[in-house]
This record gives sequence, structure tokens and C-alpha cells, in this order.
Amino acid sequence: MAVAILVAAGSGERLGAGRPKAFVALAGRPMIEWSVRALRAAGLEAIVVALPAGHPAPPGCTGVSGGRSRSQSVASALAAAPADDRVVVHDAARPLVPPELFGATLAALADADAATAAARVTDTVKEAGPDGYVVATLDRTRLWAVQTPQAFRREWLERALAAPPDVLAGATDDAMLVERLGGRVRVVESPASNFKVTTPHDLAVAESILC
Ligand code: CTP
Ligand code: MG
Repeated sequence: MAVAILVAAGSGERLGAGRPKAFVALAGRPMIEWSVRALRAAGLEAIVVALPAGHPAPPGCTGVSGGRSRSQSVASALAAAPADDRVVVHDAARPLVPPELFGATLAALADADAATAAARVTDTVKEAGPDGYVVATLDRTRLWAVQTPQAFRREWLERALAAPPDVLAGATDDAMLVERLGGRVRVVESPASNFKVTTPHDLAVAESILC
């Protein structure tokens, strides 16, 4: 089996709800509860949650204090995780995750060191300089918008999270820390509905889908 890490320690500044994002109400329950339910529906019972100060772990989950950055929260949770050799990391900010995505990313470890849920990019993506002028149009057929869950062979995640503090602080996902060490990371196609709740607009969209 695998152990699940749920990162919920962020403050949710862009949402601006006056409390940590994972504990904001979404369709009648705290946002974090939706991810816990999805993990359990996927058969993942060992769940370690990185939490903001003063907030309890959901019933049946192990809680740890979160770190200053997302990757530091993952590292704190991994240190408290039981000794499974596969780990799946999920953001509490993706409450609409389809449960089967956990198994799909874990299955992809058969021929990879890490695997990430990712959605095909549907917009044309351009690169622009600080002056606002476009310098390149990227080849959309090769672009993926990376999400969670992300699954890891445990030894790779442990090595990845041993990166220097400035690298950890700048990491926006954990798969990039595995890439940095030369690990093989696979994308597992996932639906755009697995979006991250970042802004009040995202919360309103999630609410309308769940209600
Ligand atoms: N997270 C965490 N520990 C941190 C920062 C983020 O556990 N120090 C978690 C968040 O709780 C969230 C996920 O990482 O589930 C993705 O982060 P993000 O969407 O950026 O959430 P916040 O950091 O809470 O939001 P913001 O950046 O707007 O403050
Ligand atoms: Mg953040």
C-alpha cells in the first residue's frame, strides 16, 4: 500500500477568507474534508496532514505542523509517515480530485520515479518579457498544467526533499525536486475539473459544482 500526505498548512492569502484555505467552508464542510473523503474512497487509509497552527487534523488522520513553504510542509509530513515505500502527495486546495487519480499516479510508478497528475493546456501559451512584449509562442502539444496528486517512490521523495532550504522554498511542486536530481517523472492525464482553489472565483466554481 501507499501512504498519503495531504498539505493543508497554507494561509490562503489569495483567497482572502480570513482563515487558512483548507478550513474555509465548501459545500457544507471544511475544504480539507473533501480531499480526505477522496483519499479514503481510493483505499488510502494512512493519511498524514500538514496543518496550520491551531487547526486539528481530521478524524483518523495524523497531524503535523506545516512548514514555511509547501515543500517544507511535505517534508514534515513525510518524517511522520509510516514506512510505506510509495507516497502520494495531494493539496487540500484541490477538493474536486477524482479518487481514481490517486491509484493512477501510483500505478505510473511502475516505470517512473515520480508521477504527477496533469491537465493538457488548452490555451495558447506565450512567453513575454518584463516589458510586456511577446518573445515566444510555446508548442502547446507538449505543455501540461501540473496538478496533484503526485506519487513518488519514497527514497526519491526523501532525496528530493533534502535539497537546500532556498531550493525547497522556491519549489512550487515536489516533482520538480525529483527532476532536479535526474529522476524520471511521468505525467498522468487528469481532468481540468481537478483545479486548485486559489481565488474567490475558484471557490465559487467549486461550490457550484459540489452543490
Ligand atoms: N501549503 C502548505 N504549507 C505551506 C504552503 C502551502 O501545506 N507553507 C499547501 C496549501 O495548504 C495548499 C497547497 O500547499 O493545499 C497549495 O498551496 P496554495 O494553493 O499556494 O495555498 P496557500 O499557500 O494556502 O495559498 P496562498 O499562496 O494564496 O497564500
Ligand atoms: Mg501558496
